[in-house]
Amino acid sequence: MMCGVWSSTGTVILVLLLITTCGNIPSKADPNDEICLSQLSESLQDPFKNLQNWTKTAFANPCQGFTSFLQGATCNNGRIYKLSLSNLSLKGSISPNISSCTNLQALDLSSNSLSGPIPPDLQYLVNLAVLNLSSNRLSGPLPQQLALCAYLNVIDLRDNRLSGLIPPQLGLLTRLSVFDVSYNKLSGPIPSSLGNRSGNLPRFNASSYEGNKDLYGFPLPPMRSKGLSVLSIVGIGLGSGLVSLVLSFTAVCVWLKISEHKMAAEESKISQFMPDY
Ligand SMILES: *[C@@H]1O[C@H](CO)[C@@H](O)[C@H](O)[C@H]1NC(C)=O
Ligand SMILES: *[C@@H]1O[C@H](CO)[C@@H](O)[C@H](O)[C@H]1NC(C)=O
Ligand SMILES: *[C@@H]1O[C@H](CO)[C@@H](O)[C@H](O)[C@H]1NC(C)=O
Ligand SMILES: *[C@@H]1O[C@H](CO)[C@@H](O)[C@H](O)[C@H]1NC(C)=O
Ligand SMILES: *[C@@H]1O[C@H](CO)[C@@H](O)[C@H](O)[C@H]1NC(C)=O
Ligand SMILES: *[C@@H]1O[C@H](CO)[C@@H](O)[C@H](O)[C@H]1NC(C)=O
Repeated sequence: MMCGVWSSTGTVILVLLLITTCGNIPSKADPNDEICLSQLSESLQDPFKNLQNWTKTAFANPCQGFTSFLQGATCNNGRIYKLSLSNLSLKGSISPNISSCTNLQALDLSSNSLSGPIPPDLQYLVNLAVLNLSSNRLSGPLPQQLALCAYLNVIDLRDNRLSGLIPPQLGLLTRLSVFDVSYNKLSGPIPSSLGNRSGNLPRFNASSYEGNKDLYGFPLPPMRSKGLSVLSIVGIGLGSGLVSLVLSFTAVCVWLKISEHKMAAEESKISQFMPDY
């Protein structure tokens, strides 16, 4: 009898203990998200104090399930899965440590004044589907490592200062349905893996590439003739050859004519002083 009472009380206490401890386990914030957010907020400048709640305490606990405590952040199961900080007059650069937000699916930092490079570390965001960094001042190359984000279906880098070649590897992104690198400083040929996609992959027309002075090839026109085409170089070569031929011929003629005159003059001089036989 006594034994039974004790054991049932024990069970009740144990169950209560379990319930309270389990209830108290908050969806503990992910340390990676904290690194990502605090490093990003350090690399960004927010001159108009537009970012609300972007504080150290909030970085330590940015999400409660699907609720976010940070402006522009969206949470999913306690993890940051979207960052939308568009049009907030942000300056500064994008911290490479943003790659610690390993559940990130959408990154939109468009229409700010961000400068510096696009971090190749974005490759570690293996769930990234949307990347919108349009209308900033980002410079440097378009990282080929983005090709490792296999789920990317939007890459919008329009209106920045990116330079160098478009990496052909980006053509490996089979889910890509939006690709816009217009109005940058990119150069060289458009890789056919992007310019002329095969099969039923979505195609990108000239509007994705326009506004890059030195970019050429389908769907843009072939190499532009700011540089000279092969034909015109050959033409100029032949033309200038002909001109110099004519010029030197005339020069020789003139020289011959002059020396002829001189010879004649000389001859007549000589004949003047020559005694007549
Ligand atoms: C800032 O945090 C407070 C309290 O955590 C929250 O009520 C508010 O909605 C947050 N603001 C934004 C913009 O997320
Ligand atoms: C950007 O923000 C400015 C000022 O906050 C606002 O006037 C403008 O309409 C916004 N633009 C867009 C496209 O949301
Ligand atoms: C940020 O990333 C760099 C390399 O990209 C790494 O060396 C550094 O330890 C990271 N910082 C933190 C706080 O994780
Ligand atoms: C990227 O953001 C800009 C606004 O800042 C928007 O106009 C544009 O449509 C976005 N790109 C995509 C592909 O959604
Ligand atoms: C595009 O690719 C197809 C074959 O996939 C080829 O026949 C065609 O000539 C290419 N067009 C251009 C403009 O390169
Ligand atoms: C080019 O593609 C964009 C969307 O990707 C579309 O809005 C636009 O109408 C297309 N332009 C032409 C000339 O087909």
